[in-house]
Amino acid sequence: MRAPRVTPAAALFVCLLLCIRSSLCGGLLGANIVCARGLTERQRAMCHAAPAAVATLGNGLSMAYAECRAQLAGRRWNCSGVGDDPRVGHVLPLATREAAFTYAITAAGVTHALSEACARGDLPACACTTKRRRYTGTAEQFEWEGCGDASFGARFARRFLDARELEADARSAMNLHNNRVGRKVVKEMVRNECKCHGVSGSCAVRTCWKTLLPFRAVGAALKERLRRAKHVVAEHDFRGLHSRAVSMRHPRLVVRRTGKPPRKSELVFLQKSPQYCEPDAAIGSHGTHGRHCNRTSKGEDGCETLCCGRGYNTVQLVQESKCRCQFHWCCSVSCDTCITKTELHVCN
Ligand SMILES: *[C@@H]1O[C@H](CO)[C@@H](O)[C@H](O)[C@H]1NC(C)=O
Ligand SMILES: *[C@@H]1O[C@H](CO)[C@@H](O)[C@H](O)[C@H]1NC(C)=O
Repeated sequence: MRAPRVTPAAALFVCLLLCIRSSLCGGLLGANIVCARGLTERQRAMCHAAPAAVATLGNGLSMAYAECRAQLAGRRWNCSGVGDDPRVGHVLPLATREAAFTYAITAAGVTHALSEACARGDLPACACTTKRRRYTGTAEQFEWEGCGDASFGARFARRFLDARELEADARSAMNLHNNRVGRKVVKEMVRNECKCHGVSGSCAVRTCWKTLLPFRAVGAALKERLRRAKHVVAEHDFRGLHSRAVSMRHPRLVVRRTGKPPRKSELVFLQKSPQYCEPDAAIGSHGTHGRHCNRTSKGEDGCETLCCGRGYNTVQLVQESKCRCQFHWCCSVSCDTCITKTELHVCN
């Protein structure tokens, strides 16, 4: 086995952190600092060419990590550690469906953040035209305003994140596929919004623009795909499925059960997930001892599942708070003290 690699974005994140902590970073990010180390040659070149876009990319990463935690809260593997300490390297050494999810949501976060910044006109590198395009429709007149589609963000995310997949192996092919799924979800969630203009609300002229759905919706869509992720194997013919971005041939991936290529919308993984019940850094598991579970839930956060059948302790929490407050004229407030008891269930 080769040494664990650093997450696609992690190395960059270190650089951004260095930047954020240094005083040289007021206003425009210093390209030299941002682009300093840990990046591949290709990434460094992009970094120097478009420092503002790379800074935005850093925001996209933070958003993606936060969303990963929000979507998987309550599960045995809850995204904890992802993006925390980039020096540790890959938080998920195995090529599992959870790893697939982190790659996809990372690519999605970067795509989303860059596309929004592009639509706002914040990025000089963004090729988005601010010229209005006028369409004279049959019944109505349309005007398209600005640009809110995700193509700039997706292109930048592809060039930047895919550039880390330097090995021509199955894991790289998996990462590239899942990166693409992430970008695609964002692109598919672009919506048209229109506003009517005209005399007293008549829709004589409509102005339309494209908007991205909130990133929460993207996270939810990817979580659904996590559930339906496909177990794939590498075929050893080097036809180079997704290799246009990288000048290298990757093995073709096919779904284990059917022998067919996975769909472009499906997350793919190469290894079955471990139980994540006991802590084991070698497989990226924190274990579930001490986790809080939900006694009435039948789902992933239920005590039975989350505690892996080890059982749990119930802790009574007694809290005092002010309640039944009354306002007396004039001017005082009197309250009772109420005691609320809540139970907390903690995995053994
Ligand atoms: C996620 O899991 C870690 C490690 O098991 C735990 O410390 C943390 O509290 C969990 N986070 C949430 C939001 O449940
Ligand atoms: C526990 O699970 C039940 C059933 O799924 C749900 O209605 C409830 O809100 C959950 N409680 C907490 C504290 O999350």
